Amino acid sequence: RHVDRATPEAARAALASGAFHPEIPDYEDLASYRAAGGYEKLAELRAGGDWEAVQDQVLASGLRGLGGAGFPAGRKWGFVRAEPGLRYLAVNGDEGEPGTFKDRYYLERTPHLMLEGMLIAAWAVEAERSFIYMRDEYPAVLEILRREIAALIEAGIVLDGEIELRRGAGAYICGEESAMIESIEGKRGIPRLRPPYVAQVGIFDRPTLVHNVETLHWVARVVREGPEVLNATEKNGRRGLRSYSVSGRVAAPGVYLLPAGSTITEVIAAAGGMAAGHVFKAYQPGGPSSGLLPASMADVPLDFDTLQPLGSFIGSAAIVVLSEKDSARDAALNMLRFFEAESCGQCTPCRAGCEKAVKLMQADRWDAGLLEDLCQVMADASICGLGQAAPNPIRLTLKHFPDEV
Ligand code: NAI
Ligand code: SF4
Repeated sequence: RHVDRATPEAARAALASGAFHPEIPDYEDLASYRAAGGYEKLAELRAGGDWEAVQDQVLASGLRGLGGAGFPAGRKWGFVRAEPGLRYLAVNGDEGEPGTFKDRYYLERTPHLMLEGMLIAAWAVEAERSFIYMRDEYPAVLEILRREIAALIEAGIVLDGEIELRRGAGAYICGEESAMIESIEGKRGIPRLRPPYVAQVGIFDRPTLVHNVETLHWVARVVREGPEVLNATEKNGRRGLRSYSVSGRVAAPGVYLLPAGSTITEVIAAAGGMAAGHVFKAYQPGGPSSGLLPASMADVPLDFDTLQPLGSFIGSAAIVVLSEKDSARDAALNMLRFFEAESCGQCTPCRAGCEKAVKLMQADRWDAGLLEDLCQVMADASICGLGQAAPNPIRLTLKHFPDEV
């Protein structure tokens, strides 16, 4: 439900009217999850499992970080274990990428897969506490997690204080892992320079295992069902499954779990085809930082690594489909306005660069040379992924939609 929180008065009025109260969907609670064998694996591992054998399973499954970067999940466990304790785990649930809603989808249905995956990962790296950083725009998810963490304590599966649920406050940049950690520590969320990576210096300077919600969902499934649950699927030379969040001009927007090598044509077909009256023109493959690709590039497998040669990437698989009724120029400008608003302002190439880019993109004709100079500086000199990838929509629109700019 849309709630106007533009001003404190509007927020207070919405709160008083009850509009903030989440509508809790039907989901698999602790009792039903346990009835189907849930948490048996965790108990078995805690009673004497071999963490390296579990890491091998995760590596064999090919599971990669599903927040968008695609770093091999099991390898992170080794980095964190290599550091002396005390160690922490953080779940990145600040799903702020426009067009991404897969983490919410899973948490509103099967929250215990993420929770068991988190507890298995925490066991593997001997993390003494797990922090769940959840975006405040998902009130139903927050309520479900509150209830189910309480149920886990009640059932004696975790101790009180072993899991800390933290609310994000609406800043996109707090989904960047080091900014998220600053926020967890109670500071303003701005990215840190990396290295050192959070695996070495994370929450309160302790080694921290950071995983996205969906990554942990799959950790539980891989450990419970075996690596085949992911690595048995093959398509277009790619292995595994991908949860595509599909929106825009399709008949049935939603989350679609498809083979990782699916093309946009197959994704659109899964989403019921194009919406009535719309002809496919372009698509955003993985959030605004992945820019826009034209319909002529419809045969590319939408997976990690496959889009880099095109100047794009799959990221968190936030697919937005545009039709002939949409303007690529307006879409790109919208993306840069988003980055301008969400830049944390810490470094000049991004803070001033996004603002400058928006001004240049509002001109009747885009100055391609000047924009390219600006893109180069932003990509080379920004501290974090926001500023480094913000040029992608500009470059790709100049390249593929020159008539519009
Ligand atoms: P990254 O590639 O720098 O890092 C990925 C992960 O691997 C991090 O946890 C990092 O700490 C770890 N890592 C990488 N090299 C390491 C090393 N040598 N030693 C130890 N750990 C190492 O990517 P980044 O900047 O964390 O994420 C960028 C992605 O985030 C983009 O692809 C974008 O799609 C995605 N994103 C997702 C959003 C969402 O809502 N899901 C929002 C915004 C961006
Ligand atoms: Fe902040 Fe942008 Fe610099 Fe990232 S690139 S640290 S968001 S100013």
